[in-house]
Amino acid sequence: MVQWTAGERAAIQGVFAKLDYESVGLESLTRCLVVYPWTQRYFGGFGNLYNAEAIMANPKIAAHGTVVLKGLEKALKNMDNIKNTFTALSELHSEKLQVDPGNFQLLADCLTVVLARRMTTDFTPDIQAAWQKFLSVVISALRRQYY
Ligand code: HEM
Repeated sequence: MVQWTAGERAAIQGVFAKLDYESVGLESLTRCLVVYPWTQRYFGGFGNLYNAEAIMANPKIAAHGTVVLKGLEKALKNMDNIKNTFTALSELHSEKLQVDPGNFQLLADCLTVVLARRMTTDFTPDIQAAWQKFLSVVISALRRQYY
């Protein structure tokens, strides 16, 4: 089982406390789709993803950005059991959506970049370390049902 120090728990709670799901979700997903354009293939039904401006203005992308962050919030609320919390979500991404699991890290990295931009000096090395550990645990849980 993953162990969390009190400092790590506080750091991750602190990041979530400042997080505006709508705008951070939209910006992170947009960055992912622009920087790693092959990730667009999974969002074929979402309409116009022609360039960064179109993606930012796409209401389906905005809604989905919020959905992803709410998914992460579920991990926050179940920090001692992230693996089992994400069983169904892992199965969905693997079997139904057939998302290449390498893409989880890419979206996570985009989210970290967006947080660093927004939090500026508050995003200290210690906060980043705790945050990236949290994302690593989430990613490993999301990869769990792949075979
Ligand atoms: C759906 C979370 C990464 C593609 C979802 C849903 C959640 C979620 C909560 C909704 C599930 C439901 O409706 O029951 C996450 C989290 C991720 C992640 C926490 C990693 C941090 C990715 C990546 C891709 C992706 C990297 C593709 C590049 C999709 C697609 C859907 C989906 C296509 C269905 C969208 C729709 O049709 O409405 N994800 N996801 N996800 N995810 Fe992810």
